[in-house]
Order: sequence, then structure tokens, then C-alpha cells
Amino acid sequence: MTMIFTADGVFELNADETLLEGLERTGHEIEYQCRSGYCGACRVKIWVGSVDYPEPPLAFTAADEILPCCCRVRESIKIDCHKAITIDRIQNDLFAPDLLQDLD
Ligand code: FES
Repeated sequence: MTMIFTADGVFELNADETLLEGLERTGHEIEYQCRSGYCGACRVKIWVGSVDYPEPPLAFTAADEILPCCCRVRESIKIDCHKAITIDRIQNDLFAPDLLQDLD
């Protein structure tokens, strides 16, 4: 079981999906173009853990960055990625139970 920790939560990466696909499935905001390691658009910082690549990607990455479209995740990692802001999320944040408790 590979757990992916992000700035906004945690999810389990399915065996048949890339990290980019897992981030999309769980509502994270992630850029992409080529989805195969050429452009670097999906680049994110990795805070904990490491990944490897079946084929060396052409896009440049710094030592603390990874390419979710083409990396292979073999251990739980923590990355700098946030969930997309949606109307539902704004409404949930506005009416969060802990905020309403302060009104009692
Ligand atoms: S989407 Fe192009 S390198 Fe990941």
C-alpha cells in the first residue's frame, strides 16, 4: 500500500495508476501537458520519500522535485500539492463545524 501525503490530505495510490492520475482522481490541482516526462509541466516538490523513473525523463527537475506523470512511487511520499478549490469546498469551509462551535 503506497500512501500519498499532500498539503491537503492523504490518499492511497492505486497499483494501476500514475501519481498524476492519482492526484487528479482525488481532486488535486496539478498541471500537465505531455503526461510522459517531456515538458515538466507537472513538476512538484517532494518533501518526504523518493521516487524513481522507469525511463529517465527529458524534463529538468531539481533535487527536490518530481514528475508525477512518469515517476514510479515505491514508498509513501509527501508532496507539495493542494486540492483544487471548488464551490463545494468553499461552502464546506464556510460552514465548517469547528467554526460554528465558536458561535455557541
Ligand atoms: S506532464 Fe509533461 S513532464 Fe509531466
